[in-house]
Amino acid sequence: MTASGRNAALLDWYDENGRDLPWRRTRDRWQILIAEVMLQQTQVSRVVPVFERFVARYPNPQAFAVASPEEVIEAWEGLGYLRRARRLQAAAKQIADRGWPADLRELPGVGRYTAAAVAVFADGSRRAAVDVNLRRIVSRWTGVPLGEAAAFEAANELVDPARPGDWNQAMMDLGSTLCRPTRPRCPECPVAQWCVDPTIEITVPRQSAFQGSVRQARAAVLKGLVGGPAPQSSLAAEMDDETVARAIASLLAEGAIESDGAVIRLA
Ligand code: ADE
Repeated sequence: MTASGRNAALLDWYDENGRDLPWRRTRDRWQILIAEVMLQQTQVSRVVPVFERFVARYPNPQAFAVASPEEVIEAWEGLGYLRRARRLQAAAKQIADRGWPADLRELPGVGRYTAAAVAVFADGSRRAAVDVNLRRIVSRWTGVPLGEAAAFEAANELVDPARPGDWNQAMMDLGSTLCRPTRPRCPECPVAQWCVDPTIEITVPRQSAFQGSVRQARAAVLKGLVGGPAPQSSLAAEMDDETVARAIASLLAEGAIESDGAVIRLA
C-alpha cells in the first residue's frame, strides 16, 4: 500500500480516537500560539484548564499586551516557567503594535516548531510541526534514526495535503499514546503495516553541566547585547528566569553591563 494509504489509516484512527482538546476547536492564531507555548514544557492535562481561563480573559494579543506583571503571573498559574509567559507577552505587544510578522519566528519565544504549529493549525499550511515525537515516528516509518533536519524534510513530504492540521494532531496523539519512546503499542497501531522499525529511539542530548548554568546565561546575555541595548525579557530568552536574573545581577555587580530600568547595555 502507498503512503497515502498510511495517511488515510492514520486520519481514520484520529477521527475515532483523537483527543478533544480546546485548541483543536479553533483556528485563531492567537489561541493556537498560546496553546503551543503552554504545551512546550507542560503536559496536556495541566494545560487545558489554564488555557481555557487564559483565552477567556485575553481573547486577543491586544488584551494580553496591557496585562500588568501581577496579572501575567496570575494568568500563568499552574504552569510554571514564568519566562514563557513574559515572552508571550512580548510577542503579544509586538503583534498589537505591528501585526503578525510574515515569519513567525520573529516573535519572542517562537522557534521553528511553534512557527510551524501556528502555520498548520491556524492557517492550514501544508507543513509538519516537527518535535521529538514526530521525529521518532517518522524515523520508525523510514527505518532510520533521523536527525532534526532530515526529519523535518521527511515529515514535510509526508503531511497529508488535504488535512494538514489533523495529520499533525494525529501524529501528536499517536506519539503520546501508541508510538511511545519505549514499549510502543504496535498491535493497536493503525499504521503498523507501514512501519519499518518500531524499535528506533530518538535521544535528545543530555544537558551538560554548562547547559542551564549561570555561566551559560552570562554568555548569552553578553551575546544578546553585542548588537546594542536590549530589554531584559529579550536576553537569554530560552533560559529560565531565575538563572538569567542571577547572570544579570552578577554582570551588573562586575560593571560589565548597565541598566536604566528599561533596557540593558554593555558598559
Ligand atoms: N503538544 C504540543 N502541541 C500539541 C497539540 N497541539 N496537541 C496536543 N499535544 C500537543
